[in-house]
Amino acid sequence: MAQTQDGPEKGAGAVRRDFLELVAWSTLGVGTLVSLWPFVDSLNPSADVLALASTELDLAPIEEGQRVTVKWRGKPVFVDHRTPQEIEAARATPLSELRDPEPDEARVQRPEWLVVIGICTHLGCVPLGNRPGEPRGEWGGWFCPCHGSHYDTSGRIRKGPAPRNLHVPPYTFVDNTLLRIG
Ligand code: FES
Repeated sequence: MAQTQDGPEKGAGAVRRDFLELVAWSTLGVGTLVSLWPFVDSLNPSADVLALASTELDLAPIEEGQRVTVKWRGKPVFVDHRTPQEIEAARATPLSELRDPEPDEARVQRPEWLVVIGICTHLGCVPLGNRPGEPRGEWGGWFCPCHGSHYDTSGRIRKGPAPRNLHVPPYTFVDNTLLRIG
């Protein structure tokens, strides 16, 4: 005599119920995957975000002594083609004179190119000095008129309420004249 579902041979009703349970679980699995997909997909950065993740700048037209501003992830980045005098001024400064001591050599990859985020580390204003004719402060770098912070030719804080140097973003020289920020 055939045994019940607990025995070695299942009845036709039990086999059918097992099959229906399997189908139900499979459907639930697929349904979960399908409903999760928009969520998982939304975690991937969109194309416009990816495009803004890095910014490239052709350095060839930027003459010595010239400064340009580029936008990276919504922030202004100052790119400064420094003169030998500006490099010398930055490197001759004793670290003991600095509020946020950092050697110039640690802030640049190539001495003639300084790349910093143009946001004052006090309360976030954009300092002056990156356009011709703007005041550069007492150390020839940048001047934040919001509350009077002065930065030197390495973008280091020298006077005023800002606590930190202008931040250096991640960047690479793709080749001799192409800079990639980000
Ligand atoms: S925001 Fe620059 S000095 Fe206050």
